Amino acid sequence: MTDYTLLGKQLAALAEGEPDFVPVLANASALLWDALEKLNWAGFYLMDRGSLLLGPFQGKPACVRIPLGKGVCGTAVRKGRSLRVPDVHAFPGHIACDSASNSELVIPIRSGGRIVGVLDLDSPELDRFTPADQTGLEGFVRVLEEVTDFTRLRA
Ligand code: SME
Repeated sequence: MTDYTLLGKQLAALAEGEPDFVPVLANASALLWDALEKLNWAGFYLMDRGSLLLGPFQGKPACVRIPLGKGVCGTAVRKGRSLRVPDVHAFPGHIACDSASNSELVIPIRSGGRIVGVLDLDSPELDRFTPADQTGLEGFVRVLEEVTDFTRLRA
């Protein structure tokens, strides 16, 4: 089981002194990519003028813009909650950036009372993300929300 508390502490340490969202999210995606097994994508989409724009990530090149309500990411923002999808092929409207993806976990990120983006994790394995992974990663996102400065974001 991944130690998400430790990952949160590492992220907080990395954000110290420079909390701007670009370096913090870049380092957050690198931490998750390094620590979690069986991932093929780990990164962020950020709110930009009413839709989700590709942010810092690790993995293959991905779709640049996702409308709200579309795909797993846009649906998570619309619903305002995390989405754990054991089989993306069974999710209506899933956006396949990489045909290798089989399961996905998306967690909204909030700042100043509104959603500013999402953490998106993809796996080539079906049902890769357990409820415990979801809880742990939601805790990681809570730390991220506390240590990151989103004021420069054009949301
Ligand atoms: N599958 C996502 C799109 C982003 S990629 O997975 C990186 C979705 O359906 O929103």
